[in-house]
Amino acid sequence: MEEYSNKVMDHFLNPRNMGEIKDANGIGVVGNPVCGDIMKMYLKIENNIIKDAKFKTFGCGAAIATSSMATELIIGKAIEEALEITNRTVAEALDGLPPIKMHCSNLAQQAVKAAIDDYKKKNEKK
Ligand code: FES
Repeated sequence: MEEYSNKVMDHFLNPRNMGEIKDANGIGVVGNPVCGDIMKMYLKIENNIIKDAKFKTFGCGAAIATSSMATELIIGKAIEEALEITNRTVAEALDGLPPIKMHCSNLAQQAVKAAIDDYKKKNEKK
C-alpha cells in the first residue's frame, strides 16, 4: 500500500472547507483527464482578496486532502498570489503525495484557476 503522510490523512478524514458557498462570485468546475474525477470550487472574492473558498469533489482521498489544503492556502490571499500556488506547493504543504497520486492534486489547482477566471469574466462585464 502507498504511504500517505499524517497530514494527508488528517485532511482526508477532516476536510476543511468542504461544501458550497451560496453567494460565491467565482465558480470553477474541472475534470481530471487521468481518472475522470470532477471538482467544483466556490470562491468568494472581495477587493481582489479571496475571502472564502469551498469545494465539492467526486475525487479520491488524495483529491479531497489536496483541495482541503489548497483552500486553506488561498483564503486571505490576493487572487494573483493564489494563482501562483501550484499543485506541488499543495503537495509539499501536505508533506508529499505518492507519485501515483500527484495527478489528483491538479484538480484543486485547476479548479481554483477556473473559479478565478470565472470571477474575472463576470467582473469584466460590469
Ligand atoms: Fe481521481 Fe485522485 S484518482 S482525483
